[in-house]
Amino acid sequence: MKPNIDISDKNRGAVAELLNVLLADEYVLYTKTRNAHWNIEGNNFMELHKFFEGQYEAIDETIDSVAERVRSLGHYSLGSLKDFLEITHLSEDKELSDQKSALKALLESHETIICNCRKDLVTINDKYKDLGTADFITGIMEEHEKMAWMLRSYLA
Ligand SMILES: [Fe+2]
Repeated sequence: MKPNIDISDKNRGAVAELLNVLLADEYVLYTKTRNAHWNIEGNNFMELHKFFEGQYEAIDETIDSVAERVRSLGHYSLGSLKDFLEITHLSEDKELSDQKSALKALLESHETIICNCRKDLVTINDKYKDLGTADFITGIMEEHEKMAWMLRSYLA
């Protein structure tokens, strides 16, 4: 049954499409963060191992919320790694055992997501008139801004 929530079919479809791209980005960043959790090396190994664990756990929750938001709009969320890799803005071909390059690679991915969220939430608010999703994406953007701050602080 179609949602009757005063957002046109066309606009709901367009918003769901943007959300699925965000879902793909979150999934790739989740995997990159686990990669760093597993493979990081150095004299503060345990500190970073746990730090990355906290971040991938937070991203895991975001993944679920984004997918369920797509469903709330009456569309299907993507659910295959192949689909995620086809549409993500992120690349995952980075070496993540060296501390500095791992932190930098993750920071860049968070910043890419932040910039895309900032652009998308304006489009979703102004063009597609979906204030709920614009607010939802604002919250996700803020979470990434906080995670990015923490990564940046290690690189100072
Ligand atoms: Fe672990």
